[in-house]
Amino acid sequence: MISIRRTNAPLGAEIQGIDLTGELDDAILAAIVDAWHEHEVIFFRGQTLSPEQHVCLSRRLGELELHVRSEFAKPGHPEIFVVSNMLENGKPIGASDAGATWHSDSCCRREPSSGSLLYARQVPRRDGKMLGDTLFSSMTAAYEALPDEMKMRLRGLRCVNSIDNGYTRVRRNVLDENQRSRVPGHGADVEHPVVRVHPHTGRKCIYVNESYTTHIVGLSADDSRALLDILTAHVTQPQFVYRHNWQVGDLLMWDNCSTQHKAMFDYAPLHRLMERTTLQGILPLSDVEHEPAMAGQV
Ligand code: OGA
Ligand code: MN
Repeated sequence: MISIRRTNAPLGAEIQGIDLTGELDDAILAAIVDAWHEHEVIFFRGQTLSPEQHVCLSRRLGELELHVRSEFAKPGHPEIFVVSNMLENGKPIGASDAGATWHSDSCCRREPSSGSLLYARQVPRRDGKMLGDTLFSSMTAAYEALPDEMKMRLRGLRCVNSIDNGYTRVRRNVLDENQRSRVPGHGADVEHPVVRVHPHTGRKCIYVNESYTTHIVGLSADDSRALLDILTAHVTQPQFVYRHNWQVGDLLMWDNCSTQHKAMFDYAPLHRLMERTTLQGILPLSDVEHEPAMAGQV
């Protein structure tokens, strides 16, 4: 029996009663996808997934992206991106800086990821408390909470997301020329709607983030900065956030259109080991392009 337990936040639900190692039948898979779209973040506790099972489950949900930082792919599993602060033979086995600031995965691609599946293999623990939480913020709840004048002001606006902004401002040149050239959209700047319409739910989602969005198209530098500062501060307010306290064996899926996330770095020198697969998405739809079907709504 599947049961779905919502968190107290506007997003997030735990799905109980499913063993993800088993062959999932189509009805169960459809129920999982529906719960994911509705709750934006869903998680399954106590799973014992092999890398093959993690990839296999992810493939049932769509095509997978290969992360541009291929040095952090799990050996033998190019679809798995390792997030960890651990070393092996003196070398990092994963990205130790993933999620340092608020973002949505692969938002610098022309067709950004629809969702990511993160599996917890090792979770740091101090004094009986698990550390290294991840924060998720609902971009649908954040949009809904905007004053009507702001919703009108944002209609049809476009923003630029830049991989350089994320990786140089926050992480300082971690991509080499070869890696940059492999980011679809050429690792250059990519233009997206400021407000996206979710392809499955039709809900409007704010799609600017503090890590990668450099400016809003057509505004002066000052106006653009001011509006971005308002929006990035707005979308990460605690009332829109679910904070996930990890346990070993958690498999958590988030929607990269309707949520943003950020990692807590409160555990060094303890070790953390997470593995991620990333689902390919489609070209974002803007609030204006979507209007015929959404007539009458702000
Ligand atoms: C990611 C990411 C955050 C975390 O894997 O995309 O941002 O808490 N991770 O590990
Ligand atoms: Mn991320």
